[in-house]
Amino acid sequence: MYSRIAGTGHYVPERILTNAELEKIVDTTDEWIRSRSGIEQRHIAADDQTTASLAIEAAKRAIEAAGITPGDIDFLVVGTTTPDLVFPNVGTIVQEALGIHGCAAFSVEAACSGFIYALSIADKFVTSGESKNALVIGAETLSRITDWTDRSTCVLFGDGAGAVVLQPSTEQGIISTHLHADGQYKDLLYAPAGVSKRPQGDLNKEFAIHMQGNEAFKLAVKTLGAVVKETLEANSLDHDALDWLVPHQANKRIIEATAKRLGMPMEKVILTVAKYGNTSAASVPMALDVAVRDGRIKRGDLLLAEAFGGGFTWGSALIRF
Ligand code: ACO
Repeated sequence: MYSRIAGTGHYVPERILTNAELEKIVDTTDEWIRSRSGIEQRHIAADDQTTASLAIEAAKRAIEAAGITPGDIDFLVVGTTTPDLVFPNVGTIVQEALGIHGCAAFSVEAACSGFIYALSIADKFVTSGESKNALVIGAETLSRITDWTDRSTCVLFGDGAGAVVLQPSTEQGIISTHLHADGQYKDLLYAPAGVSKRPQGDLNKEFAIHMQGNEAFKLAVKTLGAVVKETLEANSLDHDALDWLVPHQANKRIIEATAKRLGMPMEKVILTVAKYGNTSAASVPMALDVAVRDGRIKRGDLLLAEAFGGGFTWGSALIRF
């Protein structure tokens, strides 16, 4: 028994923030942002939008694509690091908005790896027979924890959501998932204000993402290289077998390094970082849905999805679409 992706969806808020606009806010240039990160623009949630409201729209599209109704969903998990509230969790807010009652609904906090973690959990519930229609979402409003005076971080992030519906299948679907974390790198990428830990000072600044970009970059390249190797070896596969790499979209140069490690040409890599920036847990399901809807990813294709983020957390999923 496998769990198989029955439908995908994504949603981004209307407001687009261009590099040219950022040039007016901080000491940066379009050229620097493009050449260092590959980002050209990002979408920013409206004041009345939250992580849950983006997740709801992505979920509706995934449910429609799966050919089911919200009432069929019997398991709901959201990967996010920017929840609307301390509680109720984002999963239950999405659940209520979709008119679903009674099934498990919760969120998983693993920064940019949140969707891969959520997918791995949902896969276990589907393959064990406990869920027939699992809704798995990655959703973020990183703009709410961005210091808009810090040029080293504010140019990188964006808001959005992506979702998939998993169903049981005798045909291959999620073939394997590989999750990892190592807390010793917590100081390289973090948002210091929480619930039981509240730093003193300017909360707008203290709440925001702090990142030692260059160190995070080097570890991301090394770690993602290792996890894609682990995934192929665990399945006795050569990189030639892969049809698509669906990577976390933090930086085009990190993605290029992973593709090189896999010996994959960039034509086989789904890239959305230019349009959406780094949307953390939302980036993998957003990229997946973009490529499914534009016809690049087809039924039967073999995909390798991977992500790396604060913690550090990282992980991968080998998927027969
Ligand atoms: N505009 C112009 N100059 C800038 C900007 C900017 N927006 N930001 C930084 N600089 C300057 C720096 O001050 C530095 O100047 P200096 O040499 O005079 O000190 C110079 O540019 C180079 O800075 P670096 O940080 O070394 O640049 P780098 O090539 O590493 O690129 C970047 C920075 C894009 C942040 C990259 O390091 C990166 O993508 N890091 C990894 C991000 C990541 O994957 N994070 C994990 C996932 S995210 C999550 O979990 C939420």
